[in-house]
Amino acid sequence: MKNDIQNKPINRVDGRAKVTGAAKYFAEIEVPGMTHCVMVTSTITRGSITSIDTKQAERAPGVLAVLTHLNMPAIPGWAADNSKPSSGGEKLRLLGSDKILFNGQPIALVIADTLERAQYAATLVKTIYKKEAHKTDLAKHKTEVHMPSRLGDYSRGDANAHSTAPVTLKADYVIPIEVHNPMELHGVLALWDGEDKVTVWTKTQGVKDTQETITAAFKLEEKNVQVHSEFVGGGFGMGLRTWPQDIVVIAAAKKLKRPVKLVMTRQQMFTMVGYRPYTLQHISMGATADGKLSGMYHEAIGETASYEDFTEATVRMTRFMYACPNVTTKYRIVPLDRGVPIWMRGPGEATGAFALESAIDEMAYKVNMDPVEFRILNFAETDPERNKPFSSNHLKEAYQLGAEKIGWFKRNRQPRSMKEGDWLVGYGMSTGVFGAYRGGSTCRAQLNGDGSLVLQSATADIGPGTGTAMVQIAHEVTGLPIEKIRFELGDSSLPPSGSQGGSATVSTVGSAVYDVCTALKEMMAAKGLSFENGAVKGNIKDVLAADGKPYLEVTKESKGGAEQQKYSMYSFSIHFTEVHVHPGTGVVRVKRVVTVADSGRIVSPKTAASQMIGGVTGGIGMALTEEAIIDHRYGRFVNNNLADYHVPVSADVPHIETIFIDKPDPIINPMGSKGMGEIALIGFSAAVANAVYHATGKRIRELPITPDKIL
Ligand code: MOS
Repeated sequence: MKNDIQNKPINRVDGRAKVTGAAKYFAEIEVPGMTHCVMVTSTITRGSITSIDTKQAERAPGVLAVLTHLNMPAIPGWAADNSKPSSGGEKLRLLGSDKILFNGQPIALVIADTLERAQYAATLVKTIYKKEAHKTDLAKHKTEVHMPSRLGDYSRGDANAHSTAPVTLKADYVIPIEVHNPMELHGVLALWDGEDKVTVWTKTQGVKDTQETITAAFKLEEKNVQVHSEFVGGGFGMGLRTWPQDIVVIAAAKKLKRPVKLVMTRQQMFTMVGYRPYTLQHISMGATADGKLSGMYHEAIGETASYEDFTEATVRMTRFMYACPNVTTKYRIVPLDRGVPIWMRGPGEATGAFALESAIDEMAYKVNMDPVEFRILNFAETDPERNKPFSSNHLKEAYQLGAEKIGWFKRNRQPRSMKEGDWLVGYGMSTGVFGAYRGGSTCRAQLNGDGSLVLQSATADIGPGTGTAMVQIAHEVTGLPIEKIRFELGDSSLPPSGSQGGSATVSTVGSAVYDVCTALKEMMAAKGLSFENGAVKGNIKDVLAADGKPYLEVTKESKGGAEQQKYSMYSFSIHFTEVHVHPGTGVVRVKRVVTVADSGRIVSPKTAASQMIGGVTGGIGMALTEEAIIDHRYGRFVNNNLADYHVPVSADVPHIETIFIDKPDPIINPMGSKGMGEIALIGFSAAVANAVYHATGKRIRELPITPDKIL
């Protein structure tokens, strides 16, 4: 591929299906004889079930079964399954015992012939609990840390340099619980064929991972487990595992010999599909009087469940982002009586970047430097953590581009010095970074007699426009017009691919698309065929007739990872923002955003820009509104709905300007593309906090930045 190709922005290949309702999400799938499942959930936070009376519910109209820990069928392979993403502890075996481990834990499945009848019967289940004292407040239990075995502490150089430097800074940061809250609710529809074959429609970021989990749980043959998830209405990380409620619903369908569908409620989305963990951070930073970073200490304490360890890379960015000789990081988790967290867009890094990039801004002011100049002065030419070159790093150019675009150097650096009418005006910026990965993926290409090309791989599209990007890569390699190429995904029977996560899909699956299209061209050449001027040259119909095949087919596996040994591979983002703060009400308005991304070459400019806008919008939520609040007396969420858990609405989101450096990474893959899903959000909350400081003179170190914190 010519890496310097500038791709045209094209519309989403599945855009029409999505906006017309032709796209079917799992909850819309209907199969004959289908039944509906409603989960009854625990109203206490820790303890056990003394008795659970299901008689009345069982006698209610249309009810087929009520399953609890007392009559739940055994799931043959579940006990042995401790697969990813656990980094310790044990997965939750739902309905496996009388124990209550968190508020909202499912304790009964009510299955009826209609959804309404199941909902009604669920209200008739009577439970008596034996309560025990619970812990849900991380701030209160922060010393009860549990060191996950896989994560060592990190240190280079002098571990005290951060506090002995001429200029020092110490600050604490708080990130609240955030919940993914994708538009589409989670759930599953299971249809058994006998005892050893099952088809599952669900919402997942990886049909192969889900297939693997189900195969193991029910001790089936992989080929007898089919998983479909063609359209996904947002994931943000919550679809990166197969949740225990999915498994018990599949087990219920097997027992009942009827298809069972579960669609979770929005309330249940707060407790049963993970969340961004509440995290406390401390940063201590030292610099010379002329602005050279001389030491950093970064500690993070996050929450996890009592039964399973969840860890993320919260302090990772601090190790390599800046040229600093002395760095120490620590990461701890505290087990609480909560469901287990999971990665949420920019997992760990987004949490860590809020602290680090806030502290960097504060230090720039301490040494009397512009925050952009301070970052450029401390720019790391090579990765100081791994002592390896970056595969590509255009941060300096990105700082320059973004600063010019927003008019950064025209601002008056003095805090609380700029006004527009009654509103205080502030400019803030920050940096974001996330590993650029490439995994393994297999893609199949089928070239038809009419010159149309079908590509297949069992990846997912949770919204970024994967199908569109893959079609664009195939178009570049073959020259076929976009309309002649179709990419199929979201079905476990297609050639295997990993989950859509870690911003790696274009890099991973895109490489397989590139390789299979290249292999197809070679196969064609051997048969006297080629692509020319957007069409097949040569008589393909005769070739197919001679071969007795409906299409020319080639399958290719493509692997990455070896490059990581020699290079440090990262995507970078710079966020600039202008905020207005009302001094009377404390309201913060994000007025302008310029985000610059160094994510290698952009293969699909329109969906890439759209993904960036989505990430920044998530960043506005993280900065200003998103917070899932637990009433710790009861261990229960008080705002578990979209009316009280505030995500940004259109009125909260200004025009977001996206700029791509769009220079190919020469190492990572044939397209030269690094990832960009996570960096769209990582760092953004710090850019807002820094702008709020510039506007008001007040440092807010606890998210979200609500009016009460400003006043
Ligand atoms: Mo992303 S948090 O890897 O879906």
